[in-house]
Amino acid sequence: MGRFLVCVTGASGSVYGKRTIEALLAAGHEVHAVFSTWGRRVFETETGLDVESWLDGIGFPAGRLYAPDDLASRPSSGSWRLDGTVVVPCSMSTVGAIASGATTNLVHRAAAVALKEGRRLVLAPRETPLSLVDLRNLTRLAEAGAAILPASPGFYHKPASIDDLVDFVAGKILDRLGADSGGGSDGLFERWDGDPSGRPAPRNA
Ligand SMILES: Cc1cc2nc3c(=O)[nH]c(=O)nc-3n(C[C@H](O)[C@H](O)[C@H](O)COP(=O)(O)O)c2cc1C
Repeated sequence: MGRFLVCVTGASGSVYGKRTIEALLAAGHEVHAVFSTWGRRVFETETGLDVESWLDGIGFPAGRLYAPDDLASRPSSGSWRLDGTVVVPCSMSTVGAIASGATTNLVHRAAAVALKEGRRLVLAPRETPLSLVDLRNLTRLAEAGAAILPASPGFYHKPASIDDLVDFVAGKILDRLGADSGGGSDGLFERWDGDPSGRPAPRNA
């Protein structure tokens, strides 16, 4: 089992961060979390949940939720070992801060640490459309080693609910983090195993 840091920022789509934390925890990983100031605000607006009460309710261990301004906490240091860091959802503001190297909160610092230590960093933006500034920042981060994983669910698994769409993205995040899900990732979304109809692939005209 691995040790992962989940950072939730103030983009819409906080349910993706929520599900990622739940799935990692359910799979038995050691999970740590940071909510940026706006990450907390948007999470509470979109889900109607209080962060601490929700974490208590899912059995999130005490001492693993860090304040966004606590640059002296564990995720601030490269000497604290992590198997992967994900920012989900990742705002364009945070993308810009990480891409520029400006570290004004713990999310920026944790992402910078992942890059400098050569560890897995997954950024899951939800924003649409993307400006040229956003695209350039994301390109810069991809060049620096981050995995850019837009919160864009697929539809080939025939989702029947919002939960199905959210689980698809959370499952892709666990895959990209290299987080064994104890069967859970395969339970989060159905993997493509060929067209069950048996129809041949369409030919190009
Ligand atoms: C309801 C709500 C939804 C938002 N959605 C987005 C979004 O999808 N993408 C984004 O980049 N910013 C979004 N924002 C703006 C960010 O919250 C704002 O840029 C903030 O400074 C981000 O700070 P952070 O990256 O430190 O969390 C949203 C704000 C609110 C209040």
